[in-house]
Amino acid sequence: MTLEKSCLLAPYCSKAGDERFCNQLCFAHTRMHGENGDGGLLAVANIPKKYRTSTIQNLPFEEENPKAFQIVRIYGKDVVNKVDEGIGLYLFGVPSKDNPKGCGNGKTTAATAIVIEYLRQRTILEVKKERPIEYEPAFFMKMAKFQNIYNSQFRGSKDVTEANGDKYQALKRKMMKTDLLVLDDIGLRGTTEGLQNEIYEIIDERDTNEKTTIFTSNVPLDQIAELLNEQIASRIEGMTHAIPFTGKDNRKKSL
Ligand SMILES: Nc1ncnc2c1ncn2[C@@H]1O[C@H](COP(=O)(O)OP(=O)(O)OP(=O)(O)O)[C@@H](O)[C@H]1O
Ligand SMILES: [Mg+2]
Repeated sequence: MTLEKSCLLAPYCSKAGDERFCNQLCFAHTRMHGENGDGGLLAVANIPKKYRTSTIQNLPFEEENPKAFQIVRIYGKDVVNKVDEGIGLYLFGVPSKDNPKGCGNGKTTAATAIVIEYLRQRTILEVKKERPIEYEPAFFMKMAKFQNIYNSQFRGSKDVTEANGDKYQALKRKMMKTDLLVLDDIGLRGTTEGLQNEIYEIIDERDTNEKTTIFTSNVPLDQIAELLNEQIASRIEGMTHAIPFTGKDNRKKSL
C-alpha cells in the first residue's frame, strides 16, 4: 500500500503514490512520521494528534482572518529562512461580543501548521543531503502543561520530586535549544513568580541566541506585562511580529 494519502511530504514528493518508493521503507516518510506512522519528527516536536494534519495549505481561517491567513502562508513558505533569521510571531485572539475570550479562531492551528511546514522543509533538506538534522528542529509546548511539569517538582516524596526535577530540567533545555519553539496559550492567570522566572529565562536565552519562537495567546501583548511581567512582555515584543485573530469560536458546533 502506498502512503501518499497520509504522508505530509506527499505534496512535495515526485515519488508519491509510486509503489516502488512510496512505502514503509521510504526514509523521508519514516523521518517525518516514524516507522508506525505515529512517531518521527512530528512526535518528537510534541505536536498534539489533533493538529498533526494542519498545514499551510489547509488553514481554515482565510475568510474570517484574511490578513493572518496571508502572513501565515507567506511565513510558512519561507519558514526555514524565517527561523534562521530569528523572526518570531505572536498570534493573539481579539475579543468580541460573540467571543469574549477570543478563543477558537485558529491560533494553535496556525502555529502547528508552521511547525509542520518547517519539519517538512527540514526533512527534505536532510534527504537531499543539504542540511542534516542534528537536534530537535521544533518543539510545541502548551503552557498549562509546562506549568504542571514545573509544579510536579515540588510535590510528592523525595524520589518523585527528584525525578520530576530532572524531567523538568530536560524539558527546559529542549525549550531553550530547539530551532523553532511554540509556546501555546501564554498568559495564563495566576502564574507564580517562580514560574515567571523560568519562562523569562527560557525566552531570554532564546532571544539572546536569536532563536525563533511562536507564541499563541488570548490577550494582546500589553496584558502579558500584567499577567506575567514587563520583562517577559518586552522580550516577546522584540522577538515577534504580532498577528491578531478575530471571529467566532469555531470549537462550538452550531445546534
Ligand atoms: N475561521 C475558522 N473557520 C473554521 N474553523 C476554524 C476557524 N478557525 C479555527 N477553526 C477550527 O476551530 C478549532 C479550534 O482552532 P484552534 O485550536 O486553532 O483555536 P485557537 O485560536 O488556538 O483557540 P484557543 O484560543 O482556545 O486556544 C479547530 O478545529 C480549527 O480547525
Ligand atoms: Mg489554542
